[in-house]
Amino acid sequence: MTARGVLNSSPWRDLWSLPDDVLYLNHGSFGPSPKVVQDSFKHWTRQLESQPMNFLLREMEEALENSLAVLADFVGTSRGNLIFVDNATFGMNIVAASTCLEAGDEVLLTDHEYGAVTRLWRRTCQQTGARLVTQELPVCLSDRDAVAEQFMAGVTQQTRLIVVSHVTSPTALILPVEEICRRARTLDIPVCIDGPHAVGMLPLNLKKLDCDYYTASCHKWLSAPFGSGFLYVAPRQQKRIQPAIVSWGGSIGGRQPSWKDEFNWLGTRNPAAFLATADALRFLQSSVSSFPERIAADPEPLGDLTLLDEFRNIAHKLIDLAVTELGRSVGTKPLVKDTVAWCGSMISLALPAPSLPEADHVGKAGQRHPLQDWLWENHQIEIPVVRWRDQLLIRVSGHLYNSVDDIFTLSAALREYLN
Ligand SMILES: Cc1ncc(COP(=O)(O)O)c(C=O)c1O
Repeated sequence: MTARGVLNSSPWRDLWSLPDDVLYLNHGSFGPSPKVVQDSFKHWTRQLESQPMNFLLREMEEALENSLAVLADFVGTSRGNLIFVDNATFGMNIVAASTCLEAGDEVLLTDHEYGAVTRLWRRTCQQTGARLVTQELPVCLSDRDAVAEQFMAGVTQQTRLIVVSHVTSPTALILPVEEICRRARTLDIPVCIDGPHAVGMLPLNLKKLDCDYYTASCHKWLSAPFGSGFLYVAPRQQKRIQPAIVSWGGSIGGRQPSWKDEFNWLGTRNPAAFLATADALRFLQSSVSSFPERIAADPEPLGDLTLLDEFRNIAHKLIDLAVTELGRSVGTKPLVKDTVAWCGSMISLALPAPSLPEADHVGKAGQRHPLQDWLWENHQIEIPVVRWRDQLLIRVSGHLYNSVDDIFTLSAALREYLN
């Protein structure tokens, strides 16, 4: 991949419909779609609205399979192992509904998991008399094998499932899921990977990874429409997978029975977000050189870069800049030394907490730290500030539409708040 510089203001920004006065540094929570993907969503909605009977009964299933095939190719599996779901939460609920737990069984997860995922498994364990085991990862993350080993120390004879983020939400770290899956396979323990941040941020090959379940949202780093995600179910688990929502359970178009039939028709709904996911992938896989007007300001040779390469390259540079610039200006600290190995297109930085007002954040929806609201109200900067363990973290996301200016503006705003 050719390494090109990051321009002062992004030549890609007008492919999105972000307002000029908004500094959006939170693609990791809610990734807006480029206009071309918004158009695709509208196209599929029009197809549905113009003749619902024809679309839902005769065309939808094949169109969904075609979109799934593009997605399957991107994530390294066959479309027969994937279903579309509204989001990673939905996918994880299907796994919970399909996991038979008894009193005394254990579900193992890390202390970096997404709050709603921990809540789901806590409730699932409470309902069945099983135990939720939270294994702390080391404070200093360095060797990936050592981290996997420390996590797997939480396995006991009673462990029935491992749930682990591919890229964590509060701490934005790429966990050693390959190593965890390898170890779990030797113990015959199924692994469910919570992957909404990894898809697009990192290369993903589900065949090689060989986990049991992988849940993801495509409305994060793939910039697909909101309400698009997928669940991967390994062939060895397809017999036992159960729907969290029960509907007709058959193919509406009359195709051969498959484990996926329980999931395609979940009552009447608009499948446009799923169908436009293929166009989000086509957008990211298109060549940078097909956008000459966007790159006129950058004299470096383009090679055969795709927008996906360009996004990852820009994001890495922006998070490197965030480490040095916010560190210099307000004393933030990265959670790991080797940010290249542990971080992708977002990074969580520890703020100098003693100088900040307290807030009861701890993963409760709707409760934000005052700094997050202050940045929005005073500087129109969208960025999450979360409390994790005893630290206050600010999580910087970088995408094609971000630029070095964004990091300097954030740095100046933080300086103003902290002084
Ligand atoms: C690690 C992780 N898992 C699950 C989710 C839930 O994603 P969604 O709201 O798209 O279902 C998130 C959302 O940010 C997340 O960060």
